Amino acid sequence: MNLKGRNFLTLKDFTPDEILYLLDLAADLKAKKKAGTLLTDMHAGKNIALIFEKTSTRTRCSFEVAAHDLGIQTTYLAEGSQMGKKESIADTARVLGRMYEGIEYRGFGQEIVEELAKYAGVPVWNGLTNEYHPTQMLADMLTVREHCGKLKGVKLVYFGDARYNIGNSLAVVCSKLGLNFTACGPKAYMPNAALLAECEAWCKESGGSITLTESIEEAAKDADVLYTDVWVSMGEPDEVWAERIHDLEPYRVTMDVLKKAKKSAIFMHDLPSFHDMKTKIGKEIGEKFGIKEMEVSDEVFECDQSVVFDEAENRMHTIKAVIAATL
Ligand code: CP
Ligand code: NVA
Repeated sequence: MNLKGRNFLTLKDFTPDEILYLLDLAADLKAKKKAGTLLTDMHAGKNIALIFEKTSTRTRCSFEVAAHDLGIQTTYLAEGSQMGKKESIADTARVLGRMYEGIEYRGFGQEIVEELAKYAGVPVWNGLTNEYHPTQMLADMLTVREHCGKLKGVKLVYFGDARYNIGNSLAVVCSKLGLNFTACGPKAYMPNAALLAECEAWCKESGGSITLTESIEEAAKDADVLYTDVWVSMGEPDEVWAERIHDLEPYRVTMDVLKKAKKSAIFMHDLPSFHDMKTKIGKEIGEKFGIKEMEVSDEVFECDQSVVFDEAENRMHTIKAVIAATL
């Protein structure tokens, strides 16, 4: 398998074998990290640029630690870069492509990361756009495989707003790798028809399936994985909170929902999560709307079946695999 020079913009561009190769590489890199094996010679002397137009903890730290472990220097670009304000995406891409061996982008529309990739001349990695979050998916699949022992045939249920980056990306990766993906939420919150048609085609190859349902009973029955995400994503206006809470509150992942799933089911969340009132936004919104928790109850978040911190750790090992394979 040779992924050198490839962009990593969405998993739609990768075959199931390529995705599994990245998961195996990540598992190997994780084992080496735990064993204390140094890999700083692997890409020694290289430089990568990390563009963040939205905030981040996991993705930024994963890129920085992974790069450092591989001998790579990083430059963090957020506030203060000219991109999009005084300089076009295409010009920025051509400048950075002269100085760096790879570029990570987190921000708004998928078309921005596609444009960067078109002009950079070096690999570009998507660190989250409104539409897709592909590095998150590798971490999620590694975590599912570690806990469920397999990927094919696993029933993964996503509760909430399935139209955004996490819902879309889970639909893609599950259909490519043969999982049974269920999106559970109101009809208006489902991935769009064009994406679903692509997913159906991948399911035919992989043996996976896509189910859309409003029924929590149907969704949770026999589920191996319950997954949710924030109700309002980065970059969305504050005005949507009222509608989201109204529409999505019935789909909060609570102990009642978890009990409807398999006994061995795990709970996953890409994080950050509003599971209590210990965050500034969580507290403000909670007080305004009279709720104490949002997409997941604190009880589920903190229970033994919750694997959210394994998932967060796996962001680093999987991002390392992407960098190692594409540079
Ligand atoms: N899951 C995730 O992408 O986390 P950050 O926003 O902290 O990077
Ligand atoms: N849907 C969330 C994912 C955060 C990792 C957002 O875009 O804010």
